[in-house]
Amino acid sequence: MHVVVTGASSGIGEAICREYFSRNARVTLVARRRELMEALAKEGGGRTHVVTADLSDPAQVTSWVDGAEAANGPIDVLVNNAGVQIIRRYLETPFEDGARLLQVDLLSPLRLSHFVAQRMASRGSGTLVDVTSMAAIAPTPGMSFYNAAKGGLAAISEGLRAELKAHGVHVVTVYPGPVRSPMEAAGRAAIEDSWASRVFAPTGEASVLARLVADAVEAKDARVIYPFLNVFGRHFPALTRVLLDTFTPKVRGSS
Ligand SMILES: NC(=O)c1ccc[n+]([C@@H]2O[C@H](COP(=O)([O-])OP(=O)(O)OC[C@H]3O[C@@H](n4cnc5c(N)ncnc54)[C@H](OP(=O)(O)O)[C@@H]3O)[C@@H](O)[C@H]2O)c1
Repeated sequence: MHVVVTGASSGIGEAICREYFSRNARVTLVARRRELMEALAKEGGGRTHVVTADLSDPAQVTSWVDGAEAANGPIDVLVNNAGVQIIRRYLETPFEDGARLLQVDLLSPLRLSHFVAQRMASRGSGTLVDVTSMAAIAPTPGMSFYNAAKGGLAAISEGLRAELKAHGVHVVTVYPGPVRSPMEAAGRAAIEDSWASRVFAPTGEASVLARLVADAVEAKDARVIYPFLNVFGRHFPALTRVLLDTFTPKVRGSS
């Protein structure tokens, strides 16, 4: 099995690579920080391929796919995981920063999936995995552009599942709440500490999420929501909206 993981140099992507190493998959690691990926790839027992690509540049989003397939065979699983986050008040966020986020978190995964799904469909098999966020289900004040990107990715991911089924291609939509990683640490540091964020948004472990993702791919489950408390947000969106609007802590430095 050939699994491609974008954002493989850190956090959740790194954990997903390790999970697939343990399942004896051939793994292609994609991100910008090559040295981190090369160190991680050593754990993959010679079945890895490392790609340095800046996914904010449309020209680099698919240019490496032929090389990866030459090295590891046709892509069986594409994990769209690379992402960036901005936690800042909307009125203080330069629009260009928001547009760059939309490129990495929304347009690039859509472009990559569109390219790879054609090949999967022509073979009649494959799985697309989209790592979105609970921000897609429960948009959070202070994260406007991130909410938009993850909401867009989740929408296409959920809608595509039934459409691609006829072509033998499965889609898994992943909704992480807070999961320990450099992004999560930066996110916690950017907001004021509050009892509400500790109670309503507990932090999960990347290794647990990685196992759930690989299990969902294998079982052809539709989606993964983790930490499990976040299932509440999906089933009770109106109440979740009220809780978020009432209790979301302020972005630091805000009045
Ligand atoms: N951790 C959480 O609490 C949480 C919650 C909800 C959703 N998520 C989502 O989960 C995914 C992984 O997040 P994480 O927490 O693991 O964050 P992370 O530790 O900051 O990792 C982000 C990854 O994305 C890659 N990346 C960022 N910009 C890139 C670019 N321009 N080109 C190529 N790769 C790029 C980074 O690699 P390089 O810097 O080496 O390029 C890194 O490997 C993201 O999509 C995030 O939005 C995370």
